[in-house]
Amino acid sequence: MAKLFRGGGLPWLRAARDGLAAIRVSVGAAGLSTGVLECLRDGVMTTASARAKLGLDDDGLLEPWLKVLEAHRLIRATPEGWLLTRQGRRLLDDDVVRAAYEGFSGFHTGLYRELGLQLHGGHPRQDIAERGETIAQLTRSMEPLLHEVLVTEVHRVRPAKILDVGCGAGMNLAAMLNAAPQAEGTGIEIDNAVSDLAERLLEHRGLTGRARVLRGEVATLVAEGKVGGPYDLVLLANVVYYLPLAQRVPLFQELGKLLSEDGTLLITTTAAMPDPFSRHFDLLLRAQGQGMELPETEPLRQQLAQAGLRPAPARRLAPGAPLIVVTAQR
Ligand SMILES: C[S@@+](CC[C@H](N)C(=O)[O-])C[C@H]1O[C@@H](n2cnc3c(N)ncnc32)[C@H](O)[C@@H]1O
Repeated sequence: MAKLFRGGGLPWLRAARDGLAAIRVSVGAAGLSTGVLECLRDGVMTTASARAKLGLDDDGLLEPWLKVLEAHRLIRATPEGWLLTRQGRRLLDDDVVRAAYEGFSGFHTGLYRELGLQLHGGHPRQDIAERGETIAQLTRSMEPLLHEVLVTEVHRVRPAKILDVGCGAGMNLAAMLNAAPQAEGTGIEIDNAVSDLAERLLEHRGLTGRARVLRGEVATLVAEGKVGGPYDLVLLANVVYYLPLAQRVPLFQELGKLLSEDGTLLITTTAAMPDPFSRHFDLLLRAQGQGMELPETEPLRQQLAQAGLRPAPARRLAPGAPLIVVTAQR
């Protein structure tokens, strides 16, 4: 190590460390996609029995592949055969961890693998359209960061009715309803498979009686009069960037009309700023070719004002993270 440092090898070390992290994410994702981790779900298996169960014709690759998974501590060797480690089981069973490995080894880095083609006029990406479930699960990882803001706002507003626009897997709606035991909640979700996730999560949390999920596009549902209201608290968490710029003010206007007199619109989002994740995410959104982009903080507040709402100053959700919170009132 000292020799590498003296030889000016710090950039080499950094490059190798980054490369190994990329490999680790791909190994986890391939552990899922090859079915090998799933194959060990119910207990120990030898290489031969795993090969038979998976119906492989692997030309000797399975054993070294299992050793890769072992080196990454996702499985371990026992005298009887291969066994899942706690980390391997977590990857299999925790939807958010699974989505992180699938998402980061898949479309998040696929953006750069295919960027050259796209820069030369290739087709827009289809990640948002095709990876809705993975994205919704991955976004759940932000709930712990958001939790305090949601609960504080619920305690301040004391809502009887809550609306969660683009509710994803339903985590935020569940957190708000738990903090307001008398309140009723409505989630709106455009993606059918994601709506199923939300309904399952709300049921699992015992909230079915006072929560519902409306399936469809928010502006359309509002225009059709299907959303009801008035709502005391309307949440837009990690959703604003799905809307092209031109559609943001009209949506804020419509949501403003759904607010009760003292109601609050609460927006949380990754904002456009010179941070590596923010810049990456903005590029990923723009690469979808649908006018999606990350909002900038002050323009977002101005759009709320243009919609006739009174925005409070924006706050950072966590030090160092490109996440902001803006509340607005009628
Ligand atoms: C990144 S996820 C965030 C989910 C959730 N709010 C959270 O913070 O965990 C955004 C969700 O909004 C949904 N969505 C996007 N545009 C929408 C629209 N116009 N109407 C309804 N849902 C929408 C997407 O399908 C997706 O599930």
